[in-house]
Amino acid sequence: MEALDLQISHLSKAYHKPVLQDVCLALRNGSFVSILGRSGCGKSTLLNILGLIEPWDRGEYVLNGRTLHRREDHSRLRQKYIGFVFQSYHLIPTLSCRENILLPLLYSRQRTKRFEALVERLELEPLLHRRVPTLSGGEKQRVAIARALLQDPCLILADEPTGNLDPKNRDVILSLFRQEQKEGRAIVMITHDAEAARAADQVLHLEGGVLCET
Ligand SMILES: Nc1ncnc2c1ncn2[C@@H]1O[C@H](COP(=O)(O)OP(=O)(O)OP(=O)(O)O)[C@@H](O)[C@H]1O
Ligand SMILES: [Mg+2]
Repeated sequence: MEALDLQISHLSKAYHKPVLQDVCLALRNGSFVSILGRSGCGKSTLLNILGLIEPWDRGEYVLNGRTLHRREDHSRLRQKYIGFVFQSYHLIPTLSCRENILLPLLYSRQRTKRFEALVERLELEPLLHRRVPTLSGGEKQRVAIARALLQDPCLILADEPTGNLDPKNRDVILSLFRQEQKEGRAIVMITHDAEAARAADQVLHLEGGVLCET
């Protein structure tokens, strides 16, 4: 796994109105941060920026000593460092679970061993040949997490990963994240669930475009 030292400072982003105003956050290997905030306050926007999916307007993004330009294409850095678990899974319904998990390999070198280890760890074997629409929410989320972890990312960005889950499946995902954290991955988890948020070491609120300690 790569070393991670990520800092964003005074980051802002507006669409038709300001969304992020002055966001600062530092992440290293083993950081586990959860972010709470009301709907529409900019949580997914912040995660997309952290994940180098969206450009920001102002502020600094420094990754392992390198200052990133806000409008460059950072897809290679994203591939190397970041695993994304999206708000609504983003699994491809026409593919099997196996094909969905292995999808990132279309863009990079083989990782068959890691695939097998993840399948065992997330107990996915019985699901591998199933089609996505036939899975429960918790099962879909486990497949989405396996896909995010396939490339051994040092940073996991999870947008409401437990939002559609019952308490048992929620706890499975949270304990998996804690285990990943122990292995040195940094995790940023967006959630509406104050109880889930407490799984993290640092709980932050996004309010008025700024991250505040609780
Ligand atoms: N591509 C876009 N173009 C214009 N406005 C956008 C775009 N993406 C998000 N917004 C607006 O920015 C604000 C923040 O959106 P965002 O999706 O980040 O909120 P959120 O905190 O993730 O909400 P939720 O909890 O409902 O997922 C909202 O007002 C939204 O309408
Ligand atoms: Mg959102």
